[in-house]
Amino acid sequence: MSETAKLTLDGKEYELPIIESSVGDKGIDISGLRAETGYITADSGYGNTGSCQSKITFIDGEKGILRYRGYPIEEIAKNSSFIEAAYLVIFGKLCTQEERDDFAKLLEQNAALPQPMLKHFDGYGSDGQPMAILSAMVNSLTAYDPSVMHPKDESDVTYAAANLMSSVRTIAAASYKASIGEPIMPPRYDMKYVENFLHMMFSKPYHEYVPEPEVAVALNMFLALHADHEQNCSTSTVRMVASSQANMYASCAAGITALWGPLHGGANVAVVQMLQEIQEEGLDPEKFMDLVKDKKSGRKLMGFGHRVYKNFDPRAKILKGACFDMLEKLNVSDPLLDVALKLEEVALKDDYFVERKLYPNVDFYSGIILRAIGIPLDMFTVMFAIGRMPGWIANWKEVHDDPKARIYRPRQIYTGEVERHWVPRSERS
Ligand code: ACO
Repeated sequence: MSETAKLTLDGKEYELPIIESSVGDKGIDISGLRAETGYITADSGYGNTGSCQSKITFIDGEKGILRYRGYPIEEIAKNSSFIEAAYLVIFGKLCTQEERDDFAKLLEQNAALPQPMLKHFDGYGSDGQPMAILSAMVNSLTAYDPSVMHPKDESDVTYAAANLMSSVRTIAAASYKASIGEPIMPPRYDMKYVENFLHMMFSKPYHEYVPEPEVAVALNMFLALHADHEQNCSTSTVRMVASSQANMYASCAAGITALWGPLHGGANVAVVQMLQEIQEEGLDPEKFMDLVKDKKSGRKLMGFGHRVYKNFDPRAKILKGACFDMLEKLNVSDPLLDVALKLEEVALKDDYFVERKLYPNVDFYSGIILRAIGIPLDMFTVMFAIGRMPGWIANWKEVHDDPKARIYRPRQIYTGEVERHWVPRSERS
């Protein structure tokens, strides 16, 4: 007989089925609770809610484990290009050479944006927020690919996935060029994904940018490390939108806007701003810690803490090592790395951080890598969005492929006025 959980409510006992996992947290199925008991469950910020069953990514926050489709993140960071990691996340398996070539062909076909779409960039001001442009333009892709509204079969979904993966990179680079008033560089057909992105970002007419191999390696790793992270804020948003049967592009555009906030993907910008402030104003890291520990200050140590990781974030560990490697190979130094190292050292010895299990997260060191590559600060969260696209697509696909999928519709515990009656405006005080 399968395991159940017992719940006693108002003197009556209820049995709740257990949902098994392959590894990690099991679930208690409360889907029939309201109908049986009249109660719903409350879980602010969804910290204890399993919103779905998924086969994509596994995290053990206590042990600092992250696996895509069962493969440890350390092995992916060491061996995989971003596109190979993306294929794994989206399609659930390591690609054969033939599958890799077919997918690369689709990426190549979709690297250039539809010509009319380029006109959109003229409409944004030079100080247009790149995340606003990215989300709007990704949503606009639907207007140029009507088949995404009702994919007939798996090949339509694969096409949409490749279009989105390829276009997001072109849109990102084009929005940067538009923002600095330079001509938009078309993609090249002889370049790999990451090199092509760097070309579109940094080449100018008659001046071809050729990235150092270390730069392409570091950017591939940065993107692969961001490829998925199970039910975070933006991915849950994608699933929420997908559950209404909205198309892949619209659902992922919603993911981009959710990523934007400083408590999520926007943290990589906030970290660098914080490090710059400390460095430029010559603040003492120990004193800065007093500030972030003082709740009244409204400050946080950006790039520290995580809802799931209560040990270390394995991505932060990998990125910290990559930072040193890259700066050494490019023979550059970044004073912000010294500030970050000092802050980490102080925080890891401080009771406030130890007791609350706050460790560096993925954003703490990633900004230093992006700076070394030459990515401007206001493009940092855009870089995260390019990296996270495979995870959003895979999660959209999981909802789309699930014959039992239901529209997401949480309930609430209402705490407002019970009932009031209309008062004409002239009688209101
Ligand atoms: N600096 C100072 N104190 C912190 C920090 C921080 N970075 N993070 C958490 N705390 C404190 C909280 O104030 C709280 O203290 P209390 O128990 O005295 O009230 C305690 O630690 C628990 O924190 P919560 O806010 O409850 O943790 P939650 O899981 O809700 O939030 C989050 C996680 C949003 C990541 C939080 O740690 C944070 O704001 N970090 C800084 C922003 C950041 O780096 N975000 C990127 C996250 S990774 C990503 O999205 C890619």
